Amino acid sequence: MIRIALLASGSGTNVQAILDAHAQGKIQAEIVGVIVNVPGAAVIQRAHAAGVRCVVIPHRDYGSRAEFEQAMAQVLTQWQIDLIVLAGFMRILSAEFVQRFSGQMINIHPSLLPAYKGLHTHDRVLATGDRLHGCSIHFVTPDLDAGAVIAQSVLTVAPHESSQQLAARVNVLELQLYPRIVSWISAGRIVFLGNKPYLDGKELLTPVRFWNHG
Ligand code: GAR
Repeated sequence: MIRIALLASGSGTNVQAILDAHAQGKIQAEIVGVIVNVPGAAVIQRAHAAGVRCVVIPHRDYGSRAEFEQAMAQVLTQWQIDLIVLAGFMRILSAEFVQRFSGQMINIHPSLLPAYKGLHTHDRVLATGDRLHGCSIHFVTPDLDAGAVIAQSVLTVAPHESSQQLAARVNVLELQLYPRIVSWISAGRIVFLGNKPYLDGKELLTPVRFWNHG
């Protein structure tokens, strides 16, 4: 079984969904622990409630990004992690850190990448007037939100929908998509080789897309 660490910064709904799916036997892996960079974040309580080890490494306690990342890398190495799952982890990671865990780190992002990298994705989708929106799971490479996209879940933006309503609907899709993709990786169905993603032995030329109409 592969060994997984979850990295998070906030409310932790994605962490919760992955822990729940794991508890239900849907993810065949060992979830070794959760690393959180924000003291007091709600995700810490979620990890404790699930009986999963949680280490808080506050980035503010470190003089530089390199020192903060060194502290995280030390824990991840000690835990002998095969897969790092960024689940609402809101710190940009250096190229050095990313390369150290190349092909072993995935992220969820609330947009249909490559559209809307970065922050405030829902507001930007509404401001542009896009009809389609959703979330993406991608391998992490040194450029922000630019690694190969594994899967996306797509919804139709409703007329007059608020940013909060849209965010909530995208979050629902995230909570379905992330456990599913983590389970696929745990089962060896998805791998990242030579900077390319493969699904069931075939190069994944376009992301797997799940459509949610209505
Ligand atoms: C999620 O919507 C995730 O896609 C987003 O943060 C939220 C975390 O929610 N991540 C990013 O924006 C990364 N750039 P959660 O803490 O409830 O899982």
